[in-house]
Amino acid sequence: MRTISWDHGVVRMIDQRLLPHKLEVVGFTDYREVARAITEMYIRGAPAIGAAAGFGMALAAQNSRATTPAQLRADLTEAAGTLLAARPTAVNLRWGIERMLATADRLLPQGVQTAQAGLIDEAQQIADEDVAINQRMGAHGATLIADGDTILHHCNTGGLATVDWGTALGVIRSAHEQGKKIHVLVDETRPRLQGAHLTTWELQQWGVPHTLIADNAAGYFMAAGKVNLVTVGADRVAANGDVVNKIGTYKLACVARDNDVPFYCVAPTSTVDLRTPSGNQIPIEERDPDEVLYVDGVRIAPEGVRAANPAFDVTPNRLVTAIVTEKGIVYPPFVENLAKVVNT
Ligand code: MRU
Repeated sequence: MRTISWDHGVVRMIDQRLLPHKLEVVGFTDYREVARAITEMYIRGAPAIGAAAGFGMALAAQNSRATTPAQLRADLTEAAGTLLAARPTAVNLRWGIERMLATADRLLPQGVQTAQAGLIDEAQQIADEDVAINQRMGAHGATLIADGDTILHHCNTGGLATVDWGTALGVIRSAHEQGKKIHVLVDETRPRLQGAHLTTWELQQWGVPHTLIADNAAGYFMAAGKVNLVTVGADRVAANGDVVNKIGTYKLACVARDNDVPFYCVAPTSTVDLRTPSGNQIPIEERDPDEVLYVDGVRIAPEGVRAANPAFDVTPNRLVTAIVTEKGIVYPPFVENLAKVVNT
């Protein structure tokens, strides 16, 4: 089942806020609703956000009352602004919007209707390509996993974080489907618990053996020699290979280095932002402190306590063993090698 799809003019997506308790698909017919769904995390994960951006732009095109190419372009520019503001860190959002605007600019000279139809096709193509790209990353990444390995995984990077299959979790899925006997230690991923809520749910469906651990237990398992490799996704990879990913990733990478455990990032080239030289220039989303102060609606700190809630952190490239993309596995030096992979 796809995380997001186009269904005769309606964008359908799994409401991930309800998992693992309830699998519910919601439908949206206005790009503003798609922008809200991204902000409120009905849909999340960098590649899924990129696909949602494409479908949001397709809705804007479909619903436009423009009678001239210039009017349609103006409507699309407005939608692009709203969608771009939905979340700041995952660069796939900008990537998806820019790809849709480039398609519009190519097709608008052929008239409004041609552009509208072409934009809907393009959004569907972004979604289809995402699945194929994930499967290619899965094939490359699975070569890094040996029979019998235990893999530590952070956040959710599976089919739910993409259109289908997944990035880091997609690599795990590919290794499992190749018949390798693997075990996954799943970080619960406080504060929103993507690991506990979503990753375990997906691994259960795929039949991959796994154990849920508190985020704080990762160091214990690595120091005990019980982890062969760490795999994470990325919301944005800077030109120098710094990896911006779910909060806690940096700490994992430090512990992995201290214990000589390879640390792999799995991300499509649409997540690599060559325009941003290093991770420190990437905007880090600050989310509602209540996500830290409450667990499943129950307050866990005294009234009056303040909380901070950065949603992502920067893992410096020196701690990253390699970055798995759909075009192959990229090793240091990342500045040269990432540019080569993205530009070919
Ligand atoms: O806040 P989220 O749930 O959108 O964060 C998701 C992540 O950090 C993922 O690791 C990242 O997007 C890669 S997903 C394939």
